[in-house]
Amino acid sequence: MPRKALIAANWKMFKTPAEAKAFVAAFLPLVAGHTRDEIALFPSPVLLPAVIEAAKGSNVAIGAQNIHFAEEGAFTGETSLNQLQAVGGTHTLIGHSERRQYFAETDEIVNKKLHAALKHGIVPVVCVGEVLADREAGKTADVLKTQIAGAFVGITAEAAKPIVIAYEPVWAIGTGKTATPEIAVDAHKIIRAEVAKLLGAETAANVRILYGGSVKPDNAKTLLGQEEIDGALVGGASLKPDSFAAIVKY
Ligand code: PGA
Repeated sequence: MPRKALIAANWKMFKTPAEAKAFVAAFLPLVAGHTRDEIALFPSPVLLPAVIEAAKGSNVAIGAQNIHFAEEGAFTGETSLNQLQAVGGTHTLIGHSERRQYFAETDEIVNKKLHAALKHGIVPVVCVGEVLADREAGKTADVLKTQIAGAFVGITAEAAKPIVIAYEPVWAIGTGKTATPEIAVDAHKIIRAEVAKLLGAETAANVRILYGGSVKPDNAKTLLGQEEIDGALVGGASLKPDSFAAIVKY
């Protein structure tokens, strides 16, 4: 069975609740009846209730950009999976490169978050990707394998079924420098082979691997048309309804 693509919007630290609601009101009609791909929005925590309410009953799922792995506790500034679920969120990003770069998120933390999300039945989108220095030093494959192996510690093939992986080369995020389809496909193959090594060929064949990094309406088709690329995680170009809808409908 072919893998159903997921086209996801990472809004990062943008939009007020009013702006987010206006986005959803404009966006839903543009993608109404679109069933070829799954669609998800990842807004800041403070926007989640408004966005979930606005998207209720639609073909658009809503998730968090980050969650804490603990059930609850004294973790100032964090959001728990229970809190996400209580407001109706169904997905979460884990280990986005900005979390790794600016908030010291390690593979070990990513692994704890992945276990916690799976335990709660929240769909995890685990982000991996090399920085420019890694790529220039020929270390891309090593970095990707380490990040995947680190994220998947203690995860069984059965538990792994809902997991989505996003390949996001850090040098392509927010820079306008999109990976060529060849670069993205090569990286996806490395990731899929690592998943096969850890969890078997069937899990590897079924896991969805998204590409992220300067995806725009005008390059979406070349990237998403590749058999290895099972969707996109879109930052900047997901902030406007028409631009994100154009990517969804590439
Ligand atoms: P970008 O961000 O599309 O703005 O490059 C992608 C991401 O960080 O998920």
